[in-house]
Amino acid sequence: MDFYDVINNRRTVRNFKNQSVEQDVIDRILDAGLKAPTNDHMRSWEFIVLTDKSIIEKVVKKIPRKVSDKRVDFILNARRMTDECQRNMYADAIPKQRGMLSESGCLILPMFKQKKNLLEPKDLSSLNAFASIWCCIENILLASAAEGLSCAFRIPSGEETEYISETLCLPKEYVFPCYLAIGYPEDDTALPEQKSIDLKSKIHLNGW
Ligand SMILES: Cc1cc2nc3c(=O)[nH]c(=O)nc-3n(C[C@H](O)[C@H](O)[C@H](O)COP(=O)(O)O)c2cc1C
Repeated sequence: MDFYDVINNRRTVRNFKNQSVEQDVIDRILDAGLKAPTNDHMRSWEFIVLTDKSIIEKVVKKIPRKVSDKRVDFILNARRMTDECQRNMYADAIPKQRGMLSESGCLILPMFKQKKNLLEPKDLSSLNAFASIWCCIENILLASAAEGLSCAFRIPSGEETEYISETLCLPKEYVFPCYLAIGYPEDDTALPEQKSIDLKSKIHLNGW
């Protein structure tokens, strides 16, 4: 696929077919991830690759299985969301958080090495390892799109991180910034509309 077609075709998809992803495809996608820029040249990244449905079920256990419309409305209003396009995206996404991970063909936990407390950075460069893994994740998203696959990801919240670290015996000095589901998109999935942006209004030529 042409590079700009990949960019334009990549979407967050939260409905997957019940179909596993071939190991050689996963390998190509993760290899693309490993080619991303990295702050210290070391690419100190690891990937937990989950394909066993019973382990995936265990991993997503803390995520609510059902979220009512009333609860979704409450969350959107508590966050004071007024943009209709944004509200529609969240209304679609919130109830699918668990299903999109458990139904994907492959669930990945990308991990990076973080020596100091990520949540108490003393300057911007303290966040470099965190920034680097997101470059890696973006390469994974684009490579997946190039393979005809889709991705969805979730930032772990509440006690999820601790629970998963214990369940999967993750090393203490590694952090996983998100769950990353990769799979074959369900046919005819209606996706939330993307926010349309006028490029010219975002460019501040030679100064703000
Ligand atoms: C840092 C970050 C965090 C995100 N967290 C979540 C999440 O927790 N759950 C989810 O379903 N989508 C999450 N997303 C996906 C966004 O909702 C999605 O990228 C956005 O709505 C734009 O849609 P698109 O990816 O289809 O262009 C996240 C995206 C980013 C970049």
